[in-house]
Amino acid sequence: MTPSASHEHAHGHTHGHTHEHGGSDQEALTQVLDLDAELFAPYLTSVTARLADAAGDGVTHVVDLGAGTGTGTFALLERFPHARVTAVDSSPEMLARLAGAARAKGLGDRVRTLETDAGAGLPGITDADLVWASASLHHVDDPAAALAGVHAALRPGGLLAVAELDGMPRFLPDDAVAGRPGLEARCRAALDALHAERMPHLGADWGVLLAAAGLTVEQARTEPLELSAPLPASAGRYAHLVLDRIRVALDGLVDPADLAALGTLLDGGPADVRHRDDLVVRSTRQLWVARRPVDTAS
Ligand SMILES: C[S@@+](CC[C@H](N)C(=O)[O-])C[C@H]1O[C@@H](n2cnc3c(N)ncnc32)[C@H](O)[C@@H]1O
Repeated sequence: MTPSASHEHAHGHTHGHTHEHGGSDQEALTQVLDLDAELFAPYLTSVTARLADAAGDGVTHVVDLGAGTGTGTFALLERFPHARVTAVDSSPEMLARLAGAARAKGLGDRVRTLETDAGAGLPGITDADLVWASASLHHVDDPAAALAGVHAALRPGGLLAVAELDGMPRFLPDDAVAGRPGLEARCRAALDALHAERMPHLGADWGVLLAAAGLTVEQARTEPLELSAPLPASAGRYAHLVLDRIRVALDGLVDPADLAALGTLLDGGPADVRHRDDLVVRSTRQLWVARRPVDTAS
């Protein structure tokens, strides 16, 4: 049989955050997601091991909600060798890319893609043993509606894992650019303000929302991660992509001198993050694991 990932569409409104960006921004996002998974692979491995412990035997259907390029999909296929994954995303481009990657890895027959808005429920799914939602739930307009959909998609006793970041990663010492001390902290504060306006659920206490959705929260963890020298070249590329996205987002929102200073970290010159030896990748990861109680109706 030729492995081929199957694809389905579902109705539901398409969420603005996924389609407001141009093609090149989408391409940069796919690279950031893949580099993030590569750099923080040990963290992802430890998380999937924890999920396997919590889920026990017999995991056959995993849903990757807001799957992106499939970093979670592929980690979970490896961790649960008897499972198939339904990769859900509102972006057809992301799903096409994910399906192509699945075929290239010879995993096409274990992956189905489903194009839908996570806020509109998960049509046709009622038997998920595990739903994995990484850096995706904060995009939905109505988290309560999305979590009601997850509750209905889980089998009784099934697990939902919500993985989130506390914001953009950080890379630089306070004095990274001469004459602009505190540059990264100021940019981050401006970005936090922008996100608060555009993505009000970023930084939400998902434990409270999961409990309100009728799920039993079993784990809640916050882990500050830090990667320091010697770093692989991919760390510099990751920092460059992230800071470039930040520079574009903050155009007109910060002091032009800060924007110019940010530019010197990206322009291929001596201060460029791809060449520096003082780069440290800092990122705080949050994880909530919750279970659908066995005695509740869908
Ligand atoms: C930051 S990426 C995370 C991707 C992946 N889970 C990871 O951790 O690498 C967020 C993903 O959620 C998707 N997304 C955003 N809003 C969505 C929605 N309302 N319904 C379904 N997917 C959504 C985006 O298209 C994108 O692929």
